[in-house]
Amino acid sequence: MTTPPLPLWLAKNPRANRSLAFGLGQQFVINPNGIPELLAELGECPAHKVTPLFALPALARRLGVCEVRVKDESQRFGFSAFKALGGVLAVYDVLSRAVDDATHASTTFAALLKREHREVTRDHVFTTASSGNHGRSVAAGAKLFGNRCVIFLPKFTSADKEAAIRARGAQVIRVDGDYDTAVAECRRQAEANGWTIISDTSWEGYDSIPRSVMRGYTVLVEEIIQQWRPGPTHVFVQAGVGGLAAAAFGYLWARCEPRPTFIVVEPRSADCWFQSNLAGKPALASGNADTAMGGLACREISPVTWPIIGLAADWFMTIEEDQVLPARRQFARPMNGDPAVTSGPSGCAGLAGLARVCADEAAYKALGLGKEARVLLINSEGDLGEPLAGA
Ligand SMILES: Cc1ncc(COP(=O)(O)O)c(C=O)c1O
Repeated sequence: MTTPPLPLWLAKNPRANRSLAFGLGQQFVINPNGIPELLAELGECPAHKVTPLFALPALARRLGVCEVRVKDESQRFGFSAFKALGGVLAVYDVLSRAVDDATHASTTFAALLKREHREVTRDHVFTTASSGNHGRSVAAGAKLFGNRCVIFLPKFTSADKEAAIRARGAQVIRVDGDYDTAVAECRRQAEANGWTIISDTSWEGYDSIPRSVMRGYTVLVEEIIQQWRPGPTHVFVQAGVGGLAAAAFGYLWARCEPRPTFIVVEPRSADCWFQSNLAGKPALASGNADTAMGGLACREISPVTWPIIGLAADWFMTIEEDQVLPARRQFARPMNGDPAVTSGPSGCAGLAGLARVCADEAAYKALGLGKEARVLLINSEGDLGEPLAGA
């Protein structure tokens, strides 16, 4: 019997090498040390709660796998997105380093919340470009510690997301263009005004803060490890610039033996990781990133993440716009007693990817899915003003 050919929307990573150890090149990007301690420290912050990891057994049966579990970030920090972890913790890192430098003594999350060391921290102004979620998180971080914040938004970001950022006390500047245009304008104004950019994406000469942001994301992965033994065999993560995928893959690579199979999921019009995999180096998306999945609407990868995603993602795949709504509905109106999960268009992209693979025999086999497979998904956002159409 001949095996059907692999679909064009799926590509293997020719560099992925399962015997490659998590080394210094990876640890530079995602440092797994101290994350359980960081999680414990956050436990003292009243706004922080571990998010649930839901099992979806009926969905797993329908898709032909042993288990599907979804880490539900729609409730993270009361912000409705995993991004909360990155922005808040990166702002904290900058302020605590400033205190260390000025006083030669270390401080804590709780001390900065109580406005200790105000003379050192008060003049820091934070800024970022964002498609919405990351900006909200940086605004919330700045608000939490009492600092001024300016957020640059692309044209397509919803009015609700803008309102949510303003509600956290930040000034909002809209640019007449896409996410990458917002990044360029943010960099220009930050340099002119001496503001600190808290970006979730890196570029030449700027990677320390994006690494802090990803360190924040690893908290959710540590939670998963504590919530699920023996853990997943397959991990589908939706990517924009790749920060979430790098945190998930890097931390699981460092902590799990053997490491799971990693799959990157992107919208077809914003396939910068898919194209980078084909090129063997960072490359631009093939489309214009015009997608309903606003958090994934990126044309360029975050280059600092290459030593993790470029070397450890096993597969790269794209999804179509019309696969988003069915995935959101699947989460929201589950079958046979599975718990309901509220997601946004970017939040459910991992599930859309899994469903696409499971509907294609060649893809399903190539990824090694089957009755033994335990699949991890991350619902990276809840409903942020993009209501679920139809009854
Ligand atoms: C809801 C959501 N999911 C996933 C992502 C992708 O994260 P990254 O850009 O780190 O790949 C984003 C990024 O903004 C997002 O907002």
